[in-house]
Amino acid sequence: MGSKRGLVPPFLLSLLLHFILRTSAAKGGIAVYWGQNGNEGTLAETCATGRFSYINIAFLNKFGGGQTPELNLAGHCNPATNSCRIISDDIRACQKRNIKVMLSIGGGIGKYSLSSKEDAQNFSLYLWNNFLAGHSGSATRPLGDAALDGIDLDIELGSSLYYDDLVKLLKSYNKIGLKVYVTGAPQCPFPDRLMGVALNTSLFDYVWVQFYNNPPCQYTSGNTDNLRNSWIRWTSSVNARRIFLGLPAAPRAAGSGYIPPELLTAEILPVIRRSKNYGGVMLWSKYWDDQSGYSSAIIKSV
Ligand SMILES: *[C@@H]1O[C@H](CO)[C@@H](O)[C@H](O)[C@H]1NC(C)=O
Ligand SMILES: *[C@@H]1O[C@H](CO)[C@@H](O)[C@H](O)[C@H]1NC(C)=O
Repeated sequence: MGSKRGLVPPFLLSLLLHFILRTSAAKGGIAVYWGQNGNEGTLAETCATGRFSYINIAFLNKFGGGQTPELNLAGHCNPATNSCRIISDDIRACQKRNIKVMLSIGGGIGKYSLSSKEDAQNFSLYLWNNFLAGHSGSATRPLGDAALDGIDLDIELGSSLYYDDLVKLLKSYNKIGLKVYVTGAPQCPFPDRLMGVALNTSLFDYVWVQFYNNPPCQYTSGNTDNLRNSWIRWTSSVNARRIFLGLPAAPRAAGSGYIPPELLTAEILPVIRRSKNYGGVMLWSKYWDDQSGYSSAIIKSV
């Protein structure tokens, strides 16, 4: 009896083992933006590649201030004639593969801004009923009756106000078994000018920081220091479930910040993967990834 004193109880051992296995097996995933180029394949084809864990459908780029919200999916379909409603089948096909599908609101081109708390409230209800599990009046749902997993905020213009309210409201729709994911794509200069206040709610599940078009905090011709310092800043300051390295999928996908895949896998991923809230890599966009083969080149190291 006494000889067993000092040994670790079996349940603790298995707990420890479980923890070790889990952390060593913890791998990142790839998120990709889909929707802004008609020549990037369908949503179902994108999910069938098996390389992506998260899809952001881009963009709902008109909302707020009492405007009727508008979706823009470039050459994929025309929301005005309801031809985007067929995407529901693709959304469900993605979700069957355990891929999270978000609607991205905002983007670089559009007309959006929230004008008050009431505006945020109305818009959150609109998103819940038209894209999430709300289902009121499903005939008007722009992407048909499939319920998306969440909302992605890519706020790049307009005012910074009331997005914190929007995030809190979206999260308030969380029901048992019906989680609403909230994700976001801030620019890498910290704190983000437009999304900083919303990010400080600590309610985001995934934050894919755009480490491109922002020379002071991105990779620039052989220099990885700015990028690494910025990564540390983001992962140590922002309280989100997972932080992702957002990158252009091809040299021409952004004005600057492209990282050759060999350099990413050899020098950057091994370092940033050590952050405990590391989630993986976000790519802009599916179209550019098709041109370059970037996700195929990096997937094993993510
Ligand atoms: C919010 O919705 C209500 C009810 O439809 C409407 O009366 C009000 O004008 C809306 N507020 C804004 C800011 O659009
Ligand atoms: C949010 O919190 C961080 C600290 O974690 C702080 O540096 C930042 O200034 C805060 N405010 C905004 C607008 O980001």
